[in-house]
Amino acid sequence: MLWLLLLQVWASCLWLGHSEVGTSFHNCRKFFYQNNTPNSALNPKNPAWICQRYNNGYHYATLYDRDRRIPIYSAYTYQGERGSRPTKTWMLEPQLIDPTCPSDMQTVSTIPKDCIRQPISQSQAVNQDYDNQTCFNRGHLNPSGQHKNNSLAQIATFTLTNAVPQNSTLNRGAWRSYEQNTMPQRSKNCTKTYVIVGAVPGNTAIANGRVNVPSHIWASACCKMNNNTMSAWAVIAQNKENKVQNLTLEELETKLSRLYNRGKVSLFHKNCPRK
Ligand SMILES: *[C@@H]1O[C@H](CO)[C@@H](O)[C@H](O)[C@H]1NC(C)=O
Ligand SMILES: *[C@@H]1O[C@H](CO)[C@@H](O)[C@H](O)[C@H]1NC(C)=O
Ligand SMILES: *[C@@H]1O[C@H](CO)[C@@H](O)[C@H](O)[C@H]1NC(C)=O
Ligand SMILES: *[C@@H]1O[C@H](CO)[C@@H](O)[C@H](O)[C@H]1NC(C)=O
Ligand SMILES: *[C@@H]1O[C@H](CO)[C@@H](O)[C@H](O)[C@H]1NC(C)=O
Ligand SMILES: *[C@@H]1O[C@H](CO)[C@@H](O)[C@H](O)[C@H]1NC(C)=O
Repeated sequence: MLWLLLLQVWASCLWLGHSEVGTSFHNCRKFFYQNNTPNSALNPKNPAWICQRYNNGYHYATLYDRDRRIPIYSAYTYQGERGSRPTKTWMLEPQLIDPTCPSDMQTVSTIPKDCIRQPISQSQAVNQDYDNQTCFNRGHLNPSGQHKNNSLAQIATFTLTNAVPQNSTLNRGAWRSYEQNTMPQRSKNCTKTYVIVGAVPGNTAIANGRVNVPSHIWASACCKMNNNTMSAWAVIAQNKENKVQNLTLEELETKLSRLYNRGKVSLFHKNCPRK
């Protein structure tokens, strides 16, 4: 009987190993506070749940909009400011092409040809979509600079399923300042900080309509402080202004409910203070 049980466990591990892109965050719930993922009010019509895998490990979670070819949000834990910026070779998600492709993110040259049954650009944004763009560049949702001393986690943020066309002035300006100044300041007394960064789909697109340009980019965090109380904060920016607005978690959820217009948005577990 025991061997049968072991066989079952082994079989289910094998199966899970093949489903990094799927219908839930089963393998990467640890990136959400209390394993609690945002509710379905953010879900697009045609979503993919991606447990972002690199070098055989999970580094964060992304909800991907297959129709608009952008992430809706990425969820990660904050690991401290900067570490050296890795060389950026942007990667792709093989399992969006075909579920039989390998589960680790890869560059275009290392994806095995035999799993590519359709052009890669059909299933996701590719580097060429961002070529010749001067107003927009690849804006990280999960930024590489917030994983101090974790070079694998930094490299793993360079995948196009974690990037949206972001106004380049905002990306280099107020948003960078939020990432590099506001985050460390706010998380100073935190022992562990859970972060969700997202994009609100907009009405325009780049690359002949292939890749949606978000109207807003937002971020939210919930942490346990070193005196054991919880803290939360949020920000939002319009993708046409170089300005980031500070909000309470409740204010952001209210705003997102209106912007996504699919019901009341809840980003974090109820223990995260809304005010
Ligand atoms: C970018 O611009 C160059 C030069 O105008 C052109 O040859 C190339 O095809 C363009 N690339 C894309 C993806 O539009
Ligand atoms: C992180 O890196 C810094 C400098 O590179 C080093 O001083 C520090 O000890 C490292 N911390 C950990 C936890 O490895
Ligand atoms: C937002 O909050 C951060 C941290 O408290 C602060 O440094 C920053 O100036 C605030 N930004 C605005 C636009 O008020
Ligand atoms: C961190 O703790 C110190 C000391 O209790 C306090 O003065 C400061 O306001 C706290 N900072 C944040 C962002 O909670
Ligand atoms: C915990 O620390 C925060 C920030 O320093 C402070 O605002 C809060 O009042 C503290 N809570 C308790 C119960 O001490
Ligand atoms: C990008 O943001 C700047 C303000 O920082 C604005 O002047 C510009 O029009 C924006 N570009 C687009 C394409 O929205």
